[in-house]
Amino acid sequence: MILLTGATGTVGRPLVDLLRGAGAEVRAVSREAAAAGLPAGVEVVAGDPSRPDTVAEALDGVTALFLHPRAVGDAATGLAALARRRGVRRIVALSATNVDDDPSEQPSRFAGDRNREAEKAAAGSGLEWTSLRASFFAANTIAMWGAQIRGGDVVRYAYPDVSELPIHQRDIAAVAAHALLTDDLVGRRVELTGPQSLTHADMVTVIGDVLGRSLRYEELAPADAVDRLVAHGLPEPFVVALVARYGRLAGTAQPPSNDVEKVLGRPAATFAQWVADHTAAFTDQPERR
Ligand SMILES: NC(=O)c1ccc[n+]([C@@H]2O[C@H](COP(=O)([O-])OP(=O)(O)OC[C@H]3O[C@@H](n4cnc5c(N)ncnc54)[C@H](OP(=O)(O)O)[C@@H]3O)[C@@H](O)[C@H]2O)c1
Repeated sequence: MILLTGATGTVGRPLVDLLRGAGAEVRAVSREAAAAGLPAGVEVVAGDPSRPDTVAEALDGVTALFLHPRAVGDAATGLAALARRRGVRRIVALSATNVDDDPSEQPSRFAGDRNREAEKAAAGSGLEWTSLRASFFAANTIAMWGAQIRGGDVVRYAYPDVSELPIHQRDIAAVAAHALLTDDLVGRRVELTGPQSLTHADMVTVIGDVLGRSLRYEELAPADAVDRLVAHGLPEPFVVALVARYGRLAGTAQPPSNDVEKVLGRPAATFAQWVADHTAAFTDQPERR
């Protein structure tokens, strides 16, 4: 039995599908079990992984645990220790490529994500462990630009020349499934990136190409971008850290890793392929996506 935290999210849903497709028994823990909407055959249990006592019973009979940094919050070490006491043998943590950066330079920490702690808890758990260090999710572009592209052909955003290595969430899930189901990745930190470095402006162009539209990137001054993102409801400390990161990275590019291809035996999906899988996010109204 494999226990997943974060199963109802961006990475979790394709991971559930891949594990089920491989014939694995899957148990998913969710704070909103009744609304989880997971496929038949998945055992959904109510619990909050950030409060490990609420998932103690769900660990019974579990051989491998997927540790999701957003779902476990500050409880990664406690949950890993509890898993060990309950007889779990393996732990696979989702983490991030920037996990070794100074914490003040990791914007997601300001939104509560604990990638560093998830990796550390897995590596120090005494269990067979793997850390999946993921790059920028291609899916972030829905929140960044989806509403603007649904509404017109102009994308207003800061720093057109900041580069990312956008990765399809299905590739992260496929490597996670491999780590949970085989011994190949035990004791490893795996760098999961998309196959190409693309700037913000490049990504907008690719979205337009796939949609058959000519999109225009209109650069916002950093302070205007902060105001706009805060007005859209994002927490100000997160937004300030994010725009500061853009300022540090502008004009530079990281090389992609080929770990996805090494593990899966096929190349990572391109950003264009990801867009083709998500065109509705840039064309339809939100309730139809
Ligand atoms: N976005 C990126 O570019 C990127 C890159 C590298 C690493 N990461 C890391 O990956 C994680 C995001 O992955 P994702 O997109 O799969 O996550 P997600 O879809 O936002 O959330 C996964 C699940 O976690 C639970 N959850 C969400 N917010 C929560 C909260 N505030 N407190 C407690 N539980 C919560 C929910 O499950 P239930 O409601 O069912 O309980 C949700 O379905 C973050 O930790 C991030 O740091 C992201």
